[in-house]
Amino acid sequence: MKQCIAIDGPAGSGKSTMARLLAEKLGYLYIDTGAMYRALTAYFLANGVHYTDTQVLEKTLRKLLIEFIERNDTVEIKLEGNPMGEEIRSPQVDEHVSSVARIPEVRTYLRQLQRKLALSRPSVTEGRDIGTVILPDADLKIFLTASPTVRANRRFQQNKEKGLDTQYDTVLQNILERDSIDSTRKDAPLKKAKDAITVDTSSLSIDEVLGVLIDLVREERPWYGDISRKCKTGEQRNGNW
Ligand code: DC
Repeated sequence: MKQCIAIDGPAGSGKSTMARLLAEKLGYLYIDTGAMYRALTAYFLANGVHYTDTQVLEKTLRKLLIEFIERNDTVEIKLEGNPMGEEIRSPQVDEHVSSVARIPEVRTYLRQLQRKLALSRPSVTEGRDIGTVILPDADLKIFLTASPTVRANRRFQQNKEKGLDTQYDTVLQNILERDSIDSTRKDAPLKKAKDAITVDTSSLSIDEVLGVLIDLVREERPWYGDISRKCKTGEQRNGNW
């Protein structure tokens, strides 16, 4: 049974949904590293921190009290003693987070914390650089992906459910911009690890993807290639991502 699981992929590929469900099913710790970049971004925006100024950034990070608290197999993030909640998912944070995550000082700051947490017990860790940088020796590496339109549609539906008034075209544009910044930055870009298995979730349901992941964790099904439509059982469907 694999105990250190890395899931990477672009925005809206279903990483968070799948990593959370997989961790829940296995009783592992679920670690959302994107939430850590989001929490820092929300803090910078709320406190008017000019994060592009290296001196200001370094001073802020040096003084910042950041805590990761395990609660019900997930990680609560506290900054300066305040739990970070839904504000880290706002459209404003969406707009700025890739620019924050591309800064080497920010990545160095979070890297050790993420690694320590992920190795503390059996865990499912999701992000962009987990299989390549944070956990290069992970027992199982998954690269989740889906077409940009499917990913934008999922985010658009999620925003609607949260009562956020966003336009589909704006969401798609944001996803494409983030893909570009995340995959072209110098430090730890979004990249499939050589030994990762790609799962294209475009036309798979949540249950189908979960089934594949559980089989891979339990080593019940050997996969020699990438997985996209191998599980598709009938009509085109995306499930309620
Ligand atoms: O997964 P997400 O959309 O919540 O991630 C938010 C941003 O954080 C994303 O644009 C890229 C960045 N990120 C990163 O650079 N490295 C990670 N391990 C996780 C997220």
